[in-house]
Amino acid sequence: MKYDFGELINRRGTNSLKWDVAEGELPMWVADMDFKTAPEILSALECKLKTGILGYQIVPESWYKAFAGWWKRRHALDIKEEWLCFCTGVVPAVTSAVKRITNAGDNVVLQTPVYDIFFHSVENTGRHVLENPLLYSDGEYSVDFYDLEEKLADPLTTMMILCNPHNPAGRVWTEEELARIGSLCKKHGVTVLSDEIHCDLTRPGIDYVPFARVNADCADISVTCLSATKAFNIAGLQSAGVMISNRALREKIVRGLNSDEVAEPNAFAIEGAVCAFEKGESWLEELREYIAANEDTAVSFINEKLPQIIPVKAQATYLLWLDCSAVCLSAEKLCAHIRQTTGLYVTAGNLYRGNGKTFVRLNLACPRERLSDGLARFEKGVKTYMEK
Ligand SMILES: Cc1ncc(COP(=O)(O)O)c(C=O)c1O
Repeated sequence: MKYDFGELINRRGTNSLKWDVAEGELPMWVADMDFKTAPEILSALECKLKTGILGYQIVPESWYKAFAGWWKRRHALDIKEEWLCFCTGVVPAVTSAVKRITNAGDNVVLQTPVYDIFFHSVENTGRHVLENPLLYSDGEYSVDFYDLEEKLADPLTTMMILCNPHNPAGRVWTEEELARIGSLCKKHGVTVLSDEIHCDLTRPGIDYVPFARVNADCADISVTCLSATKAFNIAGLQSAGVMISNRALREKIVRGLNSDEVAEPNAFAIEGAVCAFEKGESWLEELREYIAANEDTAVSFINEKLPQIIPVKAQATYLLWLDCSAVCLSAEKLCAHIRQTTGLYVTAGNLYRGNGKTFVRLNLACPRERLSDGLARFEKGVKTYMEK
C-alpha cells in the first residue's frame, strides 16, 4: 500500500465534531473518517494557504471539468458543464431544493430507515415526511414498490429524496430498481432528489448507478447531489455539486441556491474537490480496500462473539448497520448503556426511523487498531446489557 491508513491520529482538541467526547471515550458515530485525506489534496490546500490571501472565491472552469471528468470516467455518466452548480454542501442543497421545488404542507417521500438529516430538511421547512419503509428480510433491504406507488400517488407528494447508495442500509440500488422508481415518480409528477454523496465508497468490484444515467425520464425529473467530501474525508471544506439536466428545473434550483446564499465557495472548497477528482483516484482505491477489510473484520468478529446480532451486508459506505433486535427493544437504550459502560459512542438507529429502532450504526472508517478497540468495547457493552 502506498498510503498509510493505519496511522493513529489524535483528533482531540481539533474542534472535530466526531471527537468532541470525554477523555477515554471512543467515537464511532458520525460519518467522518479517522484517516488523513489524500496527501495530494493536502498539498493543494497548502499551496492555496501559501498565497496568504483567502478572499472571496469564484467557481472556475476547472471545477466543472473535474466533476464532469470524474463521473464520465468512473461512473459512465455524461454531464454537461452547464448542468452543474456549486453548493456549500449536500445538506444545504437538499434543504434548498425542498424549499424551492415543494410547497409548505407538501409531502416528501423518504425510504426509511434513512440519513436523519433528511427529516430536518423536510420538517424544518414545514413539509411532511411520508415514509416508504424499506422491506427488510434476512439482513437485506429492498424497496416496497407497492407502498411507494401509494405514497407517490398522494396529490400532495411533490418530491422523493433518494439515497443512492443508501445510508444506513448500505444498498447500491440496481438499474432496474432505479428505473422503476423513476417511472413511478414520472407517472405521479414527483421530482427526485438523488443524494449520491456515498457513491465513491462502494465495495471494491461494485459500481453504483447514477440515477440520472438510467434513462431520459430519470434524468429529466431529477436533481442529483454529488460531492468529493465523503469519499475523501474533506467534509469540513463544505462543498458539493448539484447536477440538473432539465433546464427549467435547473433554473429553479439555481435561484434557490442563490437566494439561500449557499452557492459560493470558501477559500479551500474548490481546490479540495478539483484535486480529489483529478489526483485522488489511487488513494481512493486503497481506501476502499482498507474499508472492505475493516468491514470483513467487524462482521467476522460479530458473527463469532455476538451471534445474536445480524450485520446487514453493505455494498457501500463505511457504516456497518447492525440488526440488534434480538438483544434490545430500543437501540437508544442499548447505545446509552454501551457508552456509559465502555465509552464507545455509536449511533442508535432510532434516529433513522423505519425499522431502525432496534439497529445500531457503527462507523468503521478508522485504523484497524482503533477498530479492534471499538469492537471489544461493543462486545462488552452488548453482553453486559443482555445480562441486565
Ligand atoms: C446521505 C448523506 N447526505 C449528505 C451528507 C452530508 O453532506 P454535506 O456534508 O455535504 O452537507 C451525509 C453525511 O453523512 C450523508 O450521509
